[in-house]
Amino acid sequence: MSKLFEGYRIGGVALKNRMMVSPMCQYSAVDGVAQPWHRVNYGRYAIGGAGLVMVEVTAVNRQGMGTHGDLGLWNEAQQEALAEVAHTIDTLGAVPAIQIGHAGRKGSAQRPWDGGRALSDLDIAERGEAPWQLVGPSAIAMASDRPAPAVLDKEGIAAIRQAFVDTARRAVAAGFRAIEIHSAHGYLLHQFVSPLSNHRQDEYGGSPENRWRLPLEIVREIKAILPSDGALLVRVSCSDGADGGNELPETIAYAAALKEAGAEAIDCSSGGISGRASANRLARGLGFQVPFSAAIRREVGIPTIGVGLILDGPQAEAVLQAGDADVIAIGRAALYDPNWALHAQEALEGPGFAHWPPQHGWWLQRRAELLDSIAAS
Ligand SMILES: Cc1cc2nc3c(=O)[nH]c(=O)nc-3n(C[C@H](O)[C@H](O)[C@H](O)COP(=O)(O)O)c2cc1C
Repeated sequence: MSKLFEGYRIGGVALKNRMMVSPMCQYSAVDGVAQPWHRVNYGRYAIGGAGLVMVEVTAVNRQGMGTHGDLGLWNEAQQEALAEVAHTIDTLGAVPAIQIGHAGRKGSAQRPWDGGRALSDLDIAERGEAPWQLVGPSAIAMASDRPAPAVLDKEGIAAIRQAFVDTARRAVAAGFRAIEIHSAHGYLLHQFVSPLSNHRQDEYGGSPENRWRLPLEIVREIKAILPSDGALLVRVSCSDGADGGNELPETIAYAAALKEAGAEAIDCSSGGISGRASANRLARGLGFQVPFSAAIRREVGIPTIGVGLILDGPQAEAVLQAGDADVIAIGRAALYDPNWALHAQEALEGPGFAHWPPQHGWWLQRRAELLDSIAAS
């Protein structure tokens, strides 16, 4: 049997295999409320054999949204709709998981396909989408064409910490078994962690330990309310890829602190602190972030998730066999093929449809036998 299709455990959550669908924002929510698109989108990855399906970044309050189409989880209507998403994933055989976050200075943006720029009054005229006031650790804009955020004071920080905890509580109540805290890609917690965006002089800035304070407080508080059969993951940007930013050694120290605070796995991504995620100077090749996962796994002794341009089963299996990650997150390859896991299992363990849901597999097995007999005649 392959390692990819062997069971695995993160915290209190048993996975049937080591493939998770990476969080991917659909920009399709209405007032933060999940729509039929979300139920079908996430459900088809579960039908497609994923071990864990991570719902896209979900804002902990209105100001924490990235675009008008982001999911949110701070009210009853949002919780009810997400409970249906969690139930769909669960009944179709995967672990329902959700990433929660706050966009901070990166919010108030157009959807990528509308341009991805800062919202302006033009967007009100075109789509009824008004810009909103951003917040951040310091009054430093993400890019020259983005507004500078208002600086969060102690009360503002405490309110955001509480919003993360309240959202985690709602996520558990909605049926999600694993929660991932978004501390990557230039989102608010990453803005606190990176010296490029955090110039504070108080206990939330300056030394690395101070810059880590807010995410560590959030991890501790969420860990305390998570049921024992749950799991707490944190996504980090292992490299800012920019002068004066954090690189792998700083991230290894941060990951060790996250582990001590209660994180049960580190999802090892990179970039996003300034401009677009792809604007940093990291060279992009197949599996380009896997060395980060390998180093954190080795140095910190915590389960890691490897992600980024992992295309197929054999490539994922090689990462696991090398001991470079414990779980593989698949993003765009799952958009391309929602049955990614079923196809990966076929590639690694041989042809056949026994591992497919019978609603599809029973027929495909018979069609395969028919095609064989046609080929032989
Ligand atoms: C459409 C899209 C939306 C994304 N949204 C998120 C998100 O909500 N949270 C997050 O941490 N990463 C997000 N990402 C990054 C992916 O989770 C993943 O790390 C990235 O696509 C690299 O993996 P891949 O090469 O397998 O696609 C998004 C990526 C795409 C393509």
